[in-house]
Amino acid sequence: MLHRPRRNRKSPAIRNLVRETSLSAKDFIYPLFVHEDEGNVAIESMPGCTRWSITGLVKEAGEAHALGVPAVVIFPAVPEEKKNSSADECYNPDGLVPRAIQALKQAHPTLCVITDVALDPYNSDGHDGIVRQKTNGELEIVNDETVEVLCKQAVCHAQAGADIVSPSDMMDGRVEALRTALDDAGHQDVSILSYTAKYASAYYGPFRGALDSAPKAGDKKTYQMDYANVREAVREVVLDEDEGADMVMVKPAGAYLDIISKVRETTSLPVAAYQVSGEYLMIKSAAEAGWLDEKAVVLESLYAIKRAGADLILTYFAKSVAQWEADGEF
Ligand code: PBG
Repeated sequence: MLHRPRRNRKSPAIRNLVRETSLSAKDFIYPLFVHEDEGNVAIESMPGCTRWSITGLVKEAGEAHALGVPAVVIFPAVPEEKKNSSADECYNPDGLVPRAIQALKQAHPTLCVITDVALDPYNSDGHDGIVRQKTNGELEIVNDETVEVLCKQAVCHAQAGADIVSPSDMMDGRVEALRTALDDAGHQDVSILSYTAKYASAYYGPFRGALDSAPKAGDKKTYQMDYANVREAVREVVLDEDEGADMVMVKPAGAYLDIISKVRETTSLPVAAYQVSGEYLMIKSAAEAGWLDEKAVVLESLYAIKRAGADLILTYFAKSVAQWEADGEF
């Protein structure tokens, strides 16, 4: 026999030499939830995740950073009384997110702080944009008016010290508008990580539970993408690149590996992928029931996302994996 592929698998040393993909804490962006309260509260819909106080957030981010995680992205749980139909709280300079950014940057100057730009945590309607009722009673998510608010939100985050703003709203034209607004406000160095191909996905359910941010009526299908489509993702990448995005993202990740691969081929920009709350929950709950080996499945799922072409991964497992790496466990 001339060809015995098993020779390249015969020892850990050889398997290491021929390994095609690597995974490391430095690939990760760690999503963290923050609220106004003093205490830290376990999130029921996402076992193992927490709604942190600002103090708790700073501590958790610091521990992850010390383990080699370079970046966090913060998601606020906004009290119901601060929400309204125009989401004004999203650009309050004394709001929760600006204070969280300042606290993080002060405690950990080398940590890259990323913020989510979208209206859903602040909008009494629970949508990513401004909602208007059409004459026939249907709901419309108004694009251009929303983009104006997103610009104020992004500038507010930049002013507070965010390194990267990350629009997750899927409105048209928002990347160019954000770039212009940031530049006009003197924030040329603040980057844009665009949720370029964000699909209308049932995998976001546990996240909306974590923030009480589910839409009050209707769904997100007029702005998030149809999971049957690939070419539409390519179109979004071309637009975002043209509009000045610094990095693009595919979301969710695990059920969208073909999209990650396609996006990787389409652009020379860094590609991020978001292993979302439902992906996290499926692994976590199966592991807690004793049905899956958590560490093995987490690593396999993350390697798959890297292998498909992602450079960066947003994952709720970031700190755990960084700890395993530090302990030499993979
Ligand atoms: C909101 C936003 C969502 C997520 C990140 N930003 C939810 C949504 O679009 O409904 C989901 C993240 C996750 O499920 O882990 N703009």
